[in-house]
Amino acid sequence: MAAAGLTEIDHIAIAVRDLDSAVDYYRKTYGVEPVHREVVEKDGVEEVLLKVADSYIQLLTPVRDDSPVAKYLEKRGEGLHHVGYRVDDCAAALARVKAEGHQVIDDAPRPGSRGTTVAFVHPKTAFGTLIELVEE
Ligand code: CO
Repeated sequence: MAAAGLTEIDHIAIAVRDLDSAVDYYRKTYGVEPVHREVVEKDGVEEVLLKVADSYIQLLTPVRDDSPVAKYLEKRGEGLHHVGYRVDDCAAALARVKAEGHQVIDDAPRPGSRGTTVAFVHPKTAFGTLIELVEE
């Protein structure tokens, strides 16, 4: 079986309480522009993507109290939430992770924001980082 094949860093996701303030901070302080804003109903989050070279900073805030990001903010406060890596084939990359005996959150690829296909890998067997495999 081929390796999971990470091709690029797609995004660094940061959980924040006030999305507009966080967007202003990145714009004013670092000169990065928001290029996409979307509510992802299934995950109960609103996200803004700010472009840095070929990657994004993804600012995330919950839109519902039962959102996993709401629980994350409550438990751990604002900060780094997950890292999204680009892959050519999300299903193949996920199969590889499972074949190696690691825990996953999504048993099969599913729709992500921007029309991507994604799957999350559990931080428990990933050295503490929530990993998202992103196929564009
Ligand atoms: Co993400």
